[in-house]
Amino acid sequence: MTQVSRYHPLLAALHWLLALMIIAMLAIGFFALAVTPNTDPHKIDVLEVHMAAGMLILALMMIRFIVRMCTARPPRLSSGSCFLDRITPIAHYGFYVLILLMVGSGYATGILARLPAIVFARSGEPLPPSFAIFPTWTVHRAVAVMLVGLIVLHVIAVCYHQFIKKDGLFRRMFFR
Ligand code: HEM
Repeated sequence: MTQVSRYHPLLAALHWLLALMIIAMLAIGFFALAVTPNTDPHKIDVLEVHMAAGMLILALMMIRFIVRMCTARPPRLSSGSCFLDRITPIAHYGFYVLILLMVGSGYATGILARLPAIVFARSGEPLPPSFAIFPTWTVHRAVAVMLVGLIVLHVIAVCYHQFIKKDGLFRRMFFR
């Protein structure tokens, strides 16, 4: 493959779109869904947006993965630490794994709680008293916390490259 100095523009565009969508989903989850009782009639509207956006994130993530496999990438930059260089690809693939787990556990919770009928078909049935009765919800919450941790680590690593090593890492994920 040809040597390039930046990621493909489609890959960069999907990166920033997904970053915004995932952060918005985490914010909606923690600050809207988790604090709203299931008896609140507006919760169904928020769940509708959350569930639809979650599935869109999975679709965009799969498209991004395919584009990543098919396009040339700039050479990997070293952090200066052998250990950190080894765990970087694991952390990057970790995003794909955690998003898969997020959507899988969210979807499984939705099925167990009969959410497709309640939320999308507006069957009129009430939401279950709490989602905490479903083990898949515990997984959903735990993976959400792990995802927040991975995002924080990712931002710290980018800042280290950009401001301490000054190796222009940020520029590689932007457009010409
Ligand atoms: C990238 C994808 C997703 C992210 C980042 C995400 C994030 C979150 C977060 C942070 C919470 C709050 C957890 C808590 O209570 O502390 C939550 C709750 C929930 N999510 Fe997701 N979610 C995603 C996808 C989905 C999908 C695809 C579905 C279903 C199809 C779904 C269904 C739910 C349900 C039913 C709850 C429980 C609401 C409650 O706590 O009352 N999620 N999500």
